[in-house]
Amino acid sequence: MSSTPYKLLFVCLGNICRSPSAENIMRHLIDEAGLGDHVLCDSAGTSGYHVGSAPDRRMAIAARRQGIELVGHSRRFEVADFEAFDRILAMDRSNYRDILALDRSGQYADKVMMMCDFCREHNLKDVPDPYYGGESGFNNVIDLLFDACGGLLDEIRPELDAIA
Ligand code: 4NP
Repeated sequence: MSSTPYKLLFVCLGNICRSPSAENIMRHLIDEAGLGDHVLCDSAGTSGYHVGSAPDRRMAIAARRQGIELVGHSRRFEVADFEAFDRILAMDRSNYRDILALDRSGQYADKVMMMCDFCREHNLKDVPDPYYGGESGFNNVIDLLFDACGGLLDEIRPELDAIA
């Protein structure tokens, strides 16, 4: 890892389904691009419901089917993350609002973005919450996140080239 890596934080509600998937897919694409030394990926949840838990088993199965191993444990998003990360990617509009509500001064608003805004193939505003649904919902999350993470990588590439 370079001394000042570019830092990405993916955020959902529980940090056991969508954001750990985004974190691990993004890390996979970054490693594939040979940029692993220059980017740090992490994830967090706006709720504390699942703090300390491993990723949801159903989500891990869907990810593994696409060649992605989900690693990590749930943690809650904290105010210090605004300063620590370069970009904060919200999985849905509710997550986006909850994150911005913690930025009292509004000084970090430019760092907070909607994950689906980076999609190139899908036309959804939110990464749908798969928690209470069936297997297809988990598979869709993985497809959507591959699309969004690819778009995000292209978007940040000039910034990475500047530090690599
Ligand atoms: P995530 O999914 O936000 O993608 O991790 C959820 C996980 C847990 C719950 C809801 C969504 N829950 O209600 O416990």
